Amino acid sequence: MNVAVFGAGYVGLVTGAVFADLGNQVTLVEISPSKIEQIREGRSPIYEEGLDSMLARVVGANRLRVTSDAKEAVPFADIIFVSVGTPPMANGEADMRYVRDAALAIGRSLLPDRPRVIVNKATVPIGSANLVEIWIQDGFATAHGGETLSTDWYAVASNPEFLREGTAIHDTLYADRIVIGTDKPWAIDRLRALYDPIVHQSFEPPPEALRPAGLNHVPLIVTDRISAELIKYAANAFLATKISFANEIANVADRVGADVAEVMRGIGLDARIGPRFLNAGIGWGGSCLGKDLAALTVMAENYGYVPRLLEAAADVNRQQRLLAVKLVQEELKTIKGRRIAIWGLAFKPGTDDLRDAPSLTIIEELLRLGARVRVYDPVAMENLRRQAPELSVEYAPSAMEALDGSDALILVTEWPEFRDVSPSELKARLARGVVIDGRNVWDPAAMRSAGIRYRAIGR
Ligand SMILES: NC(=O)c1ccc[n+]([C@@H]2O[C@H](COP(=O)([O-])OP(=O)(O)OC[C@H]3O[C@@H](n4cnc5c(N)ncnc54)[C@H](O)[C@@H]3O)[C@@H](O)[C@H]2O)c1
Repeated sequence: MNVAVFGAGYVGLVTGAVFADLGNQVTLVEISPSKIEQIREGRSPIYEEGLDSMLARVVGANRLRVTSDAKEAVPFADIIFVSVGTPPMANGEADMRYVRDAALAIGRSLLPDRPRVIVNKATVPIGSANLVEIWIQDGFATAHGGETLSTDWYAVASNPEFLREGTAIHDTLYADRIVIGTDKPWAIDRLRALYDPIVHQSFEPPPEALRPAGLNHVPLIVTDRISAELIKYAANAFLATKISFANEIANVADRVGADVAEVMRGIGLDARIGPRFLNAGIGWGGSCLGKDLAALTVMAENYGYVPRLLEAAADVNRQQRLLAVKLVQEELKTIKGRRIAIWGLAFKPGTDDLRDAPSLTIIEELLRLGARVRVYDPVAMENLRRQAPELSVEYAPSAMEALDGSDALILVTEWPEFRDVSPSELKARLARGVVIDGRNVWDPAAMRSAGIRYRAIGR
């Protein structure tokens, strides 16, 4: 099929590359000149496992093109994805200006010659598919002297995205489920056809993402647009609440002398609960959980419902980030003039994304209290330099060099390379031997027997 994708970010770029690799002809429409240039050269502007090699392959084979001009993509497309950003505004609502701009551009470029499906893949507030229809009509009217585009020629569907950064290609090809929301049967058929190789796992797995053993089918849910839009928010709200729940229990565990890791293992084996997303630590972050939880909260309130559980999940998370600073303070007493090393800046391992990263809250608080902060992250340091030049931190060339001369270490992101560190080396390099394990990855007994003043979350 001929596919257009608006927005070549974490979602759009991966979606475009994967559909191109599955044999479709894909055109990305992007407004950032530097992203366009890098993609044209077959290089990924973001750090995402396997994306560089997949991009090089599909760009080299002329199956993926990129342009800034909607007219080079929309008239040829059977399916048009909208995967531009929907960042939070100050009141928590999603900012729809990028979706509006994309929808207007689609409307201006649409031709009344054959039916096309416009697909909201971005996470958008409930009812946004209706808005996108209006914007498409507005765009069409601008380009066609006020004319209306017959609804025979287009359908707006919702197809929320659930990929995780760090495993985005894998998650796209081997999704837990695909959700399609539209009431037009021909649009359902077309999206079913596009997703068919994924649903039936009939493609040859690419070298970047091998098929999990035993997987031969991915469930595809077809529903109405409003339910599809709410599925995305409900999924992220549940995941955020699950982690906040583990953190709440961790805070109780700390007070009563239990080990939260044991407690979560004990409850996670219950099939009704499940073991994943129960790791206690310094809380969740990233571009989606906080933003989507806030947007769902505002939406519920707009419709006259106070979502107390969602508000509590966000509160617990805010408090949890500062727990890392509180633990350092308990060990060092005075923070002013102390040197603190931070391992990990990205909101989770496997990505360079710093959006709503707990590291930022922790660094700001340490600087506010007068600490000197030295940071190390294997891939996200360049982004911090660029996005937060006002943060006066020192950048260490390696994890170990971040420790030299530091009084304490806070582990913020559990990159695999941090897991195997030797406790005696930590002890030797840290002036005061204080280690705050914000992700509960190290063995408390091994740390303590090396003489480290080790603090973790709920252990
Ligand atoms: N990042 C994730 O893990 C993830 C997962 C699931 C869903 N989502 C949702 O997907 C959407 C996109 O997220 P993202 O992380 O890919 O964002 P992103 O910021 O990485 O990418 C958005 C891209 O859209 C481009 N853009 C903005 N306006 C445009 C326009 N009018 N025309 C063409 N391009 C335009 C931007 O330049 C940018 O490259 C959001 O709604 C997000 O909530 C994200």
